[in-house]
Amino acid sequence: MSLTKAILSEADRTFTARFEKHYDELKWLYCELYQDVPDPMEHLVSLVSGMHAYYNERKPSLKESDLRREADPDWYKRNDLYGMMLYVNCFSETLKGLEEKLDYISECNVNYLHLMPLLASPKGRSDGGYAVADFRQVQPDLGTMDDFSRVADKCHERGINIALDFVMNHTSEDHEWAKRARAGEREYQDRYFFFDTFDIPAMYEKTCPQVFPTTAPGNFTWLEDCRKHVMTTFYPYQWDLNYRNPEVLNEMVFNMLYLANRGVDIIRLDAVPYIWKQLGTNCRNLPQVHTIVRMMRIICEIVCPGVLMLGEVVMAPDKVAPYFGTPEKPECHMLYNVTTMASTWNTVATRDAGLLKRQLDILASLPRTYIFQNYLRCHDDIGWGLDYDYLSAFGIEEGAHKKYLNDYLTGKWPDSFSRGELYNDDPRLRDARLCGTTASLVGVERFGFEGNRAGVDRGVTYDITLHAFMMSQSGIPVLYSGDEIGMLNDYSYKKDPDKAADSRYLHRGDFRWDLAERRNEEGTVQYRLFHALDKLAHIRAAHSVFEAEVPFRTLDTWDQSTLALVRENDEEKFIGIYNFSEFDRVAWINEEDGIYTDLISGREMEARGVQIPAFGCYWLLRKK
Ligand code: GLC
Repeated sequence: MSLTKAILSEADRTFTARFEKHYDELKWLYCELYQDVPDPMEHLVSLVSGMHAYYNERKPSLKESDLRREADPDWYKRNDLYGMMLYVNCFSETLKGLEEKLDYISECNVNYLHLMPLLASPKGRSDGGYAVADFRQVQPDLGTMDDFSRVADKCHERGINIALDFVMNHTSEDHEWAKRARAGEREYQDRYFFFDTFDIPAMYEKTCPQVFPTTAPGNFTWLEDCRKHVMTTFYPYQWDLNYRNPEVLNEMVFNMLYLANRGVDIIRLDAVPYIWKQLGTNCRNLPQVHTIVRMMRIICEIVCPGVLMLGEVVMAPDKVAPYFGTPEKPECHMLYNVTTMASTWNTVATRDAGLLKRQLDILASLPRTYIFQNYLRCHDDIGWGLDYDYLSAFGIEEGAHKKYLNDYLTGKWPDSFSRGELYNDDPRLRDARLCGTTASLVGVERFGFEGNRAGVDRGVTYDITLHAFMMSQSGIPVLYSGDEIGMLNDYSYKKDPDKAADSRYLHRGDFRWDLAERRNEEGTVQYRLFHALDKLAHIRAAHSVFEAEVPFRTLDTWDQSTLALVRENDEEKFIGIYNFSEFDRVAWINEEDGIYTDLISGREMEARGVQIPAFGCYWLLRKK
């Protein structure tokens, strides 16, 4: 009897059925990836036996949810998921504190809560929690793993799904493996990329670009104590894991399954394009990355099929969609809609919706089974991964254009309402990125400080319009915590030596509960935003036309600052119209099919030559 048969003889019918469905493919992929390893089957068998152990350990309520979701595989593709991402320390200090704040989360209509990294991570060398020292321990300031499981249970009782990062490209230098590697244990050095001399690192440096050119230059770090170079694509304290070693893959899969068993519904695969390194390449998006992601998907389908994989693929537009895999061999369930996000801010700075329209046209041509996570802001900077091949046809040169965007959005232009800050400004490449909260980028900060009420009003209108645009895109909308009350930039990070060099902390400030209190005080910024977003969320959930698999297309508006987006199913036709300019405009659309109702204002109108106020929007709907 083979070892896998021995495992299966102990397994229940559910596990066996899932296993039999997928094992052949898993075996092929694993043995192909590890063909140079002496006995790949031995490693595969220990992977499978671990999978079985995690399946057995999974608690009944999670197994029930797996079965329900297996029977309804489109459960996340409808119009009823609405997300928010937040840092527990900023929002509620601790996980126990979060339990007490769940009413607020529900009041925001949120049923998909992304808790930013909360696992053990050394203070001052944590990259916002993205340098994990122990995948099975919660950062002690935030609570314990039991607290986490309890919050997850409480969320599940309310119908809230939990997303958590799985930081798989690297560990902290304080992780046990790293410590043992540093102490000279060969087995652990082989889990990372260790080199005695700089010869090979120098060869990597020739083709491998830098992620943090200013805050963490280079892709390697010299370890004086053990006199070796270690690969560190991100910060020097984040050591890249070597997935050529099957032990690394197996152990990291077990860490992922451990977290899934604590109640995580959505696993965010952090920095996934970077996980396979190869000399002579840029070490991003290599075919082996897709093999690993596909294997992880299979592993989840066998052990915990209710769990979704969200890929963090912040890459050029053509590199993103391949992470969905194919319909027969899917990889991630969901991906960030990073190009639309960046193109939106490009439109804000230029008032020209052309590139954004083109981006939506590209998305519209993708299979409807691809589910994107839409967002305006997140914890990271805005990188200008725009379609410069397309823009160059209009004489737009990448360096100069990025400079314009950054100058505009940091308020350097006299007419700019934005108050952003640069991030990793690399003068050599002219490639700075941008930080700031939505409200600060759309004028609420500048005009608030200037005491200009009309300006603030206009900023709030724009803030609502951008959210309406984001929420009408195909996929799952995710709010950045604080945006629902128009939180502004928080400059206090500059006084904290652990944060001062990383301007992403500009938009990672403590949640302002004092401002949230004002969400029911009429006339306040918080009131206007909170209730507008609440209304949009209700509208979205009430109309089937917002389901992710409903086709969409753009319309020509013959006006460069307006964008019109149509979504249509058998029951309804929706037209979202957005004005990205400070002037009233006319969207010269001509849909000759009767009277529409603007779901936001209740006004009735034809979808022809639509006049649209400065920075305003319409959500027109017609029942069929
Ligand atoms: C991801 C995270 C980012 C972090 C990086 C390294 O890109 O979103 O915040 O710095 O991974 O882990």
